Amino acid sequence: MKLAVLITVLAGLCVAHALAPAHQEQSKLQETSQDALLQQFQAWAVQHNKPYVHDRKESARRFSIWASNVAHISRSNAQRNAAGSSTRLGLTAFTDLTREEFAAAYLGSPMVSRNLLPEQQQQQHASGAGRLPGASALLRRFAAAPGSSAAANKKVQHWRYENVTPPSAADWRAAQPPILGPIKDQHVGGAPCGSCWAFSAVSIMEIASAKATGKVISGSEQHLIDCDRKYDHGCEGGGWLNAIQYTIKNRGLATEDEYPYTAKDGKCNKTLAHAKHELQVDDWEDVPFSNETALAAAVSQTPVIVAICCGPAIDDWHHYTGGIFDSPCCEKDKEITLDHGMVVVGYGQEAGTPYWILKNSWGAAWGEQGFMRIRRNHGKHGKCALASYPAMVFRNPPQPSA
Ligand SMILES: *[C@@H]1O[C@H](CO)[C@@H](O)[C@H](O)[C@H]1NC(C)=O
Ligand SMILES: *[C@@H]1O[C@H](CO)[C@@H](O)[C@H](O)[C@H]1NC(C)=O
Repeated sequence: MKLAVLITVLAGLCVAHALAPAHQEQSKLQETSQDALLQQFQAWAVQHNKPYVHDRKESARRFSIWASNVAHISRSNAQRNAAGSSTRLGLTAFTDLTREEFAAAYLGSPMVSRNLLPEQQQQQHASGAGRLPGASALLRRFAAAPGSSAAANKKVQHWRYENVTPPSAADWRAAQPPILGPIKDQHVGGAPCGSCWAFSAVSIMEIASAKATGKVISGSEQHLIDCDRKYDHGCEGGGWLNAIQYTIKNRGLATEDEYPYTAKDGKCNKTLAHAKHELQVDDWEDVPFSNETALAAAVSQTPVIVAICCGPAIDDWHHYTGGIFDSPCCEKDKEITLDHGMVVVGYGQEAGTPYWILKNSWGAAWGEQGFMRIRRNHGKHGKCALASYPAMVFRNPPQPSA
């Protein structure tokens, strides 16, 4: 397979791509007077509780970044409309951040080599449902804990949902009783913290637990950031599969209230970490590699955690406020950096365009109330490589299919 992608990093890490230089945009917004724009900015800053509203110097600096982003958004939307795309960009809570600041805060910071496992251990972790091509071993070296017998024994003989014919749509947001935890914001607290690996892991574990118990418990990312240090590196990055395996072994995770998010690396509170936990999961299992049919079958049964490549379309991720995301994103790249983790909570079709529904951890002011829709059945590994390494998490795992 000549075109096989080289997966260089696991979920929840970092942007390593060279990003195109910022443009000095000219746009329709020239017509809007500077004063009107400034008023709009001030209202926006108050709405999003920006700490610099009374700091004239910082306000001026932020206004200049904000105005440049607004110009980009306006120009980009015009191009999209002309091209018939439904993706909408707009004002989010991040409109005052430069692309570099946004990438640092929301995708994490580069952390590649520290998580490498020796070759033979990679092989062990090429676990999962059937044919996982070579790239999976590369992923696993970031994903799985070395020597973890849990991972080594995971090889399933049959794809669990081989015989499931997925319905035309599914949406776990509508489940009764509810199973999704709250939309969180990984940047709360100030300084950049590359913790999306912890947020996506907690998100899928909240769901697995709620599905089994009928009760949604908001789990603690900080517990993972501070205590899951063997293979993960807190705010410097990590892999969601490590976090899931840590939680299984630890017999659960503290709640958000017990162990609140600080967006900083901290010392593990062992008393808290080893206390009895209500939020528990027992098992995880791969969904077949880069197969959106299998992914739909899985999502029709349970939400699925995925690793995503955001970097090449970072400007569009930054300002996404709705529609079906269809920006060029990693599908032509031979080398893919999986720099973010999210949970697929449904799928459907709108005006003939199939989409996935993803739950993100960038706050509710981003996307469609914190969720996004993204093109489905598009590209070899899915849009932004989202179908490359999906996994399911269970509490009280169902019996293997015959
Ligand atoms: C650990 O958490 C418990 C419960 O919140 C708290 O009482 C204790 O002081 C914490 N320990 C440390 C070392 O921070
Ligand atoms: C994708 O998965 C489905 C079953 O879930 C299977 O029938 C199909 O052959 C798979 N496609 C590829 C390319 O492996």
